[in-house]
Amino acid sequence: MKDELEKLVVDLTAALSSVHDTAALEVVRVEYVGRKGRLAELMKGLAALSVDEKKVIGQIANSVKARVEAEFARVEKMIADADVKARMTREWLDVTLPGAAPSVGHLHLVSQAIEDITDIFRRLGFVRARHPEIDGDYYAFEALNMPKDHPARDEWETFFIRDSHSAEVMQGQKGKMVLTPHTSNGQVREMEKGVLPIRMISIGKCYRRQSTARHSPMFHQFEGLVIDKKSSVTELKGVCEYFAKSYFGADRTTRLRPYHFRFTEPSFELDISCGICKGVGSVGGVKCKLCKEGWLELGGAGMVHPNVIKAGGLDPDVYAGFAFGWGVERTMMMRAGVNIDDIRILYRNDLRFIRQF
Ligand code: DAH
Repeated sequence: MKDELEKLVVDLTAALSSVHDTAALEVVRVEYVGRKGRLAELMKGLAALSVDEKKVIGQIANSVKARVEAEFARVEKMIADADVKARMTREWLDVTLPGAAPSVGHLHLVSQAIEDITDIFRRLGFVRARHPEIDGDYYAFEALNMPKDHPARDEWETFFIRDSHSAEVMQGQKGKMVLTPHTSNGQVREMEKGVLPIRMISIGKCYRRQSTARHSPMFHQFEGLVIDKKSSVTELKGVCEYFAKSYFGADRTTRLRPYHFRFTEPSFELDISCGICKGVGSVGGVKCKLCKEGWLELGGAGMVHPNVIKAGGLDPDVYAGFAFGWGVERTMMMRAGVNIDDIRILYRNDLRFIRQF
């Protein structure tokens, strides 16, 4: 029996020498030390021995068990070490390598301008508002003191919405439905809300039947409206100056040039001094290439016409105000460093262009 115990250790060592993973190890474990394994079978033989023999063999059996356990422990550790080594090779990572930068986009040039403009007027207390892009022509024209068939309306080359079945121009509660040709439709709508005083900056899309280097069929305007018990051209001029200096630079100035709009009285065009010739009209004796006589045209402005205040449900003897409406794209294109000679490129979705800004 002693020999058989010794042989068990020798056989076990031989069997374990070809074991390299846990599954194979378990097979050997069952064969040698399982409930019906070789060791258990040998131990059954103890019962037939005399008391003295039991003592001797028992001792040998205990030392054999200890050696068997040590053998299993040794191989277990060998397998675990090999696993760790394999994982280290597999998952090796150089944390000092530069990372792969995720590609991050940015806002479109026009969206950036809208944010900048909103921000400047917010500092003066103007609150951003939104008004419909598809509206009745009452708000786009009539309420702005432009009666039906008034020739001034021709300047606003308007898109009308047609019913897809009848092909007739759609009639809404407030007249024919149009794609708003300017953001001025927001003036009377804002007054109708009845919250006074008003300091509104409404920025939105406008649509006109035109497509040239200076005109895109869809473009944006920002409409300012101030309505209060007291209001003056001086305030309008102050707002224009503040905007021009904040947006274009401290060295720029503005002028109000008399003009005509049906919805303002008096009316003006706002010009800003040219960034190239600084308002002089020439550089080193040569006529400035960018501007007309030192000034660039920004857009319309004026004191709100009493009829418009009336249309807004307010008493023109109590309330007065000023308004202005300028193109976002045109304003942005006039900023130093933006060198765009055709407005339509903004909407061609050419990433080579868009990524430059
Ligand atoms: N709505 C005018 C346009 O699109 C611009 C304009 C002129 C807006 C004078 C105003 C204003 O608010 O007072 O040409």
